[in-house]
Amino acid sequence: MPYPNNIPDLGIFPFFSGLPPALLESWKKYFKGKSFAKRQRLVFSSPGSDVIFFVLSGEVKIAYSSEDGKEFTITLLSVGEVYSEHSLAMATAIEKTEVLYISMADFRNIMDESPEVARRLVRLLGTILRLTNDLIADLAFRETASRLARVFWRTLQAKNITMKQQCYTIHLTHEELASLSGSTRQTINEILRHWEQQGILELHRGHVMLLKPEKLWVKVSHDHS
Ligand code: HEM
Repeated sequence: MPYPNNIPDLGIFPFFSGLPPALLESWKKYFKGKSFAKRQRLVFSSPGSDVIFFVLSGEVKIAYSSEDGKEFTITLLSVGEVYSEHSLAMATAIEKTEVLYISMADFRNIMDESPEVARRLVRLLGTILRLTNDLIADLAFRETASRLARVFWRTLQAKNITMKQQCYTIHLTHEELASLSGSTRQTINEILRHWEQQGILELHRGHVMLLKPEKLWVKVSHDHS
């Protein structure tokens, strides 16, 4: 996409949708676009820069890593979602991804112009906080198998797919699934192989095909593997 001249209508992002078109049009000047290849870290201009980014296409993994190299994925951002550099999480494209981004200084200008943007930011941060609390509760109370089932469930939910729908492909590697479940690849491999034997899913290189998502729903609702 030829940037910066071709910034799309900001109303396509749920964060901005329904705001006055004239305001949205006038804010386009604050945005830039950038493309990232699969597995590329999302890095913006100079070191120490601080931006807010919106996913235009593709998918982005938000993760934290420990000093000894372990990684824990907090969430996957789909098209339309927004995140910030100053959260200090690592953002990585898990497929070819395009984003629009805005500096914090310009985002402040937008908030000054529209109190509704500030209200939406509070709502967004509330959603992120709830997600984080859910993750903490999952780690504290759920078994690994149940957490893994919840990862599939959340992925389908993010794409508006119901667990009743038959056969769906999840484009995540075993390593990514382990990171999203707060577990090791070895443990996740064992659980996946067990579920494959039960005909719940099929394992492939780089993706998992869910054959009976409704069986995972049981694992999400009742906490046993
Ligand atoms: C887990 C995620 C996040 C964390 C941990 C986080 C953390 C913080 C912190 C610590 C500050 C205060 C910074 C300071 O005053 O020095 C801040 C401010 C702010 N954050 Fe976030 N943030 C997160 C996500 C987001 C997202 C997704 C957005 C936007 C869509 C956002 C927008 C802002 C804005 C606009 C400010 C105020 C900046 C100012 O006016 O000084 N944050 N955040």
